[in-house]
Amino acid sequence: MNKPVIRVGIIGAGNVGSALVQLLGDSSRNEALLDAATGPFELVGIGVHDLNKRRKGVPKELLTADVKSLVERDDLDILVELVGGIKPARIYIETALRRGVSVVTANKSLMAECGTELAQLAHQNGCDLFYEAAVGGGIPILRALRTSLAGERITRVMGIVNGTTNFILTKMSSEGSSFETALKEAQSLGYAEADPSADVEGFDAAAKVQILSSLAFGTELSGEEITREGITGVRSVDVEFARRSGYVIKLLGVAERIAKSGISRRAHPAMIPMEHPLASVHGAMNAVFVEGERSGPLMWLGQGAGGEPTATAVLGDLLDAIRNRVSGRHNVPFSVDRTLHSVPTGELESVFYISIDVLDKPGVLAAVAGIFGDNGVSIQSMEQSGFGDEARLSFLTHMAVTDHVANTVKDLSTHRSVDSVGACIRVIDGGTK
Ligand SMILES: NC(=O)c1ccc[n+]([C@@H]2O[C@H](COP(=O)([O-])OP(=O)(O)OC[C@H]3O[C@@H](n4cnc5c(N)ncnc54)[C@H](OP(=O)(O)O)[C@@H]3O)[C@@H](O)[C@H]2O)c1
Repeated sequence: MNKPVIRVGIIGAGNVGSALVQLLGDSSRNEALLDAATGPFELVGIGVHDLNKRRKGVPKELLTADVKSLVERDDLDILVELVGGIKPARIYIETALRRGVSVVTANKSLMAECGTELAQLAHQNGCDLFYEAAVGGGIPILRALRTSLAGERITRVMGIVNGTTNFILTKMSSEGSSFETALKEAQSLGYAEADPSADVEGFDAAAKVQILSSLAFGTELSGEEITREGITGVRSVDVEFARRSGYVIKLLGVAERIAKSGISRRAHPAMIPMEHPLASVHGAMNAVFVEGERSGPLMWLGQGAGGEPTATAVLGDLLDAIRNRVSGRHNVPFSVDRTLHSVPTGELESVFYISIDVLDKPGVLAAVAGIFGDNGVSIQSMEQSGFGDEARLSFLTHMAVTDHVANTVKDLSTHRSVDSVGACIRVIDGGTK
């Protein structure tokens, strides 16, 4: 019996979409791909914004600017959304799912905003929603969480999930560059956008933490804000202090269980010990570190962005969607654990690094130490450097409640002996309890 032809539409032929079309058009790979998919498929159209743009390896005859008609084709089986952003991507995806058309997307912001709702919509309409490329580009971490680790009780997921910020922090650490110089270099190499705020302010990492957390712990994807701090306040002196003290500074996305039913989700810079597996993830690479009760520590490392690596993850999803279509199945969405509650970040305990620029005069150290003590924050070690206008005090605290540390920083910043508070960065998996 002849197998049905599965009809696929792609919207978006930019970095990822063009790479995907080229992968699909690579005749040396096609036979194996079709075998793997257990059925023939046909690319019926590629929706774009600008028909006149030059695109290498993308057949012109398949391009259309009438995306709505492509999405609403009666014979469409699978839609691959590679436009990005919330609007109009959400409308196209919802339209497809309501029509029973399976969707593959790489859209992290949309998934973090309304992924639970979209997954339910797919389920109700007997089709699939796949989004492996939304976290970690070419790293197959979501499928691992969804299938291989489905029976494991995961305690923490921690990732370097933004290549731009990891490139900047690596440059600051290895070459002593300032944040501004490292950002300019990232922009000139195409690692950072002209407007880098989504990356350097931690928005991108926060969206990815939400997606990782939903699969690891069953939290909802509903646009809930989570704790987010960027790396714009990290200075060369902080990176240098970290190095001298046996740490590196990384922008981490963290989702972890707190006690029995609490969960904490955050994206922020953190100092991690040099011997931690994540410390050796350099440049634009991404990595996700998972800790499970029985599996122990696990880590996935790879290219978190770039057209080809990301298109590979999209293609894996596309083949899964085709297989399901051919066999008349669809995936059941991840379950939401409603017994979990978000623990406010202010209640969490951590070791902190705090750096302050102070007036170089007698009595300052005692005054500053008094502020720590008054707020219930105990000092583990202190380093004094520079003199005159450059005088600086750098502290590592013992384990302290985040709210108490925030109050300490507030009091320090208004004290007459303090010029400015430079940095307040968590120390993860290091320091004393
Ligand atoms: N780039 C990466 O390394 C990477 C990694 C992981 C995930 N992702 C995700 O993958 C998705 C695509 O990223 P990308 O880097 O490929 O983006 P991109 O290069 O900016 O491409 C976006 C594509 O969407 C098309 N488009 C934009 N608005 C449209 C509209 N209103 N109607 C029809 N087409 C429209 C554009 O058309 P024109 O070409 O005509 O302008 C372009 O082809 C995003 O969700 C992104 O977050 C990207």
